[in-house]
Amino acid sequence: MTSRTTIHMAGLALAAGIGLLLPGAARAQGDLVVYCTVQEEWCRAMVTAFEKKTGIKVAMTRKSSGELYAQIKAEAANPKGDIWWGGTGDPHLQAAEEGLSLEYTSPMNKDLHPWAIKQWEQSKKRTIGVYAGALGYGYNTKQIAEKKIAEPKCWSDLLDPKLKDEVQVADPNSSGTSYTMLATMVQLLGEDKGFDYMKKLHKNVNQYTKSGAAPAKAVSLGESAVGITFQHDMVTFIVQGAPMKVVAPCEGTGYEIGSMTLIKGAKNLENAKKWYDWALTPEAQELGAGAKAYQVPSNKNSKTPPEAPDFAKIKFIDYDFAKYGSSAERTRLLAKWDAEVKNLPK
Ligand code: F6P
Repeated sequence: MTSRTTIHMAGLALAAGIGLLLPGAARAQGDLVVYCTVQEEWCRAMVTAFEKKTGIKVAMTRKSSGELYAQIKAEAANPKGDIWWGGTGDPHLQAAEEGLSLEYTSPMNKDLHPWAIKQWEQSKKRTIGVYAGALGYGYNTKQIAEKKIAEPKCWSDLLDPKLKDEVQVADPNSSGTSYTMLATMVQLLGEDKGFDYMKKLHKNVNQYTKSGAAPAKAVSLGESAVGITFQHDMVTFIVQGAPMKVVAPCEGTGYEIGSMTLIKGAKNLENAKKWYDWALTPEAQELGAGAKAYQVPSNKNSKTPPEAPDFAKIKFIDYDFAKYGSSAERTRLLAKWDAEVKNLPK
């Protein structure tokens, strides 16, 4: 070992020692803890680009919307995350109402679509839209042909007894996608008929997954003939050549405003604000397409990927985010689904 190496190593040891002695907040400087609720590949692309741009080291955890909401709530007395980026808007709104997040006005707000700003206004500045996505489903064309079923086009088609154990969807407790579906059915059909639909669908469900997008992969692999997800999650596999089609249901469908929230008590708040502002730029939002994530970005100047489902061709319901993102309604609907649908015999 040369003397230069020895000096260098002694320096490193000293630096590490000093680091250990510094109080938590000071040690945390230069770091950021991101809770991420899009697909792993996009989470990782965002982290890599942000670290490169700012030199801030990011620790990222990827979980589904309902899971991260529950985690942030459980950690409220001693928050471990700084910013929650992505995931359906409803649980972000619930977190805002429950005082788990912070108000913030980004200089980027002026460049955002009205739907992204509406989310921010509704939450009293505590969450903001980063992308939008349409709910729907996808099917494996080979499997549907083999089963001699007509190609499904509507929500009602998924109740066909020939699809017994052939439909996959997530559990709405963990998954924002699946909660969006439950709330969509209640808004589209009324609460009683909406729950009837969920009970009938249950007979055809082979598995309630934890993550909302998981059924898209199962359909691509032929493990499930049908999967209910956001339409863009099906497109991710279609562009890779999977024998699949995506459906915008004929009765109309709900949608998400994928959101972002600063966590109350964030230990790295200044860095979290840097992520927040950057995540609203076209530079950051256009990373999605590179990671095969085809949501519609919230910045008016961001390019919408050509693969993204064409919103102009989709019949949307007027999804009531204020109601279905409220703490009382989300808690009530999930408890009712647990009690009346989840464990029904098939
Ligand atoms: O895969 C991406 C995505 O569909 C987002 O558009 C959405 O916000 C998120 O996943 C929802 O995930 P989950 O249903 O697992 O909460």
